[in-house]
Amino acid sequence: MGEPGTTKFQTDLRRHLRQRGVERNLIRIICEISEASKYIINSIRTGDLGVAGTSNLYGEEQLALDVLSDRILQKRLKNSGVCASMVSEENNDIIRFECGGGDCYSVAYDPLDGSSLVDVNLAVGTIISIYKGDNVLLRGREQVAAMYILYGPRTTLVYSTGDGVHEFGMNQLMEYTLVQENVTIDGVGGIYSPGGQRNLYTSGTEKYVLSLEESGHKLRYSGGFVPDINQILMKGRGIFMYPHLKGRPQGKLRLLYELNPMAFLVEQAGGAASNGLMPILDIEPDGIEMCAPVFIGCCEDVATAEKFIAEESV
Ligand code: F6P
Ligand code: MN
Repeated sequence: MGEPGTTKFQTDLRRHLRQRGVERNLIRIICEISEASKYIINSIRTGDLGVAGTSNLYGEEQLALDVLSDRILQKRLKNSGVCASMVSEENNDIIRFECGGGDCYSVAYDPLDGSSLVDVNLAVGTIISIYKGDNVLLRGREQVAAMYILYGPRTTLVYSTGDGVHEFGMNQLMEYTLVQENVTIDGVGGIYSPGGQRNLYTSGTEKYVLSLEESGHKLRYSGGFVPDINQILMKGRGIFMYPHLKGRPQGKLRLLYELNPMAFLVEQAGGAASNGLMPILDIEPDGIEMCAPVFIGCCEDVATAEKFIAEESV
């Protein structure tokens, strides 16, 4: 407890990055993104909930909020002077920028994941993947940093630069201050979040889900990838899946914008992420739009998923 009238010292995001010895231009990128998120929050709170009249590279109807969040991030990254290229779930091409001196970075992102949940007031998020240099079409293992911002009842930011996973909360001055360092996933069991239509699951996944239920896992699925992953990270246990489905062998979630950054964070926290056959981070992307099935969370639950899928060969 501090003295009456004194304020508890809070470590903000920039200070934390500096303390951890993160490279100067990478700090720049991460801080620009954290600033952008404040404008995204504002558009979520007050913006137009309607459609934009356009569609993204998956043929999904874009909402005005998707397009606005994308523009906010794109502008920040461009103006940072240290972003060589960027690609987003809401853009059909890789965009290249001129960089100033020093190290430059490339960013793949989902500006507003779960945007269709805003009108029913559920939690949504921004997901970010960062590579060194001017190429974003690399295996997730090559990432130098990943982060997400979760817009829930509170706003939190979770990042890793390959040196553990750290959680920040937004304070009343709209600054991100440290909540906890070195978040870990080391518990077993607990919760499961199964995405996709259950009647389209293959026999391996169906048996796996039955085994989770028999072992007492509780169902926890919000429909938003960011809050669902955040729950596993902060509870330190559990499993999220969006598996391969009958008629949809690559599942739904996007490798560059959603799976690689979350797999990086979850592995950094001591968990695992697999497409059922191999680690997500080792998948060679064949295009910016690539999707993959995913089983992500505590190591034991991911290993069990791989076992069921291997036994049924599907
Ligand atoms: O962008 C993908 C997403 O909205 C994720 O946030 C979420 O996990 C998933 O889709 C939900 O998909 P479905 O509506 O098929 O359960
Ligand atoms: Mn998304």
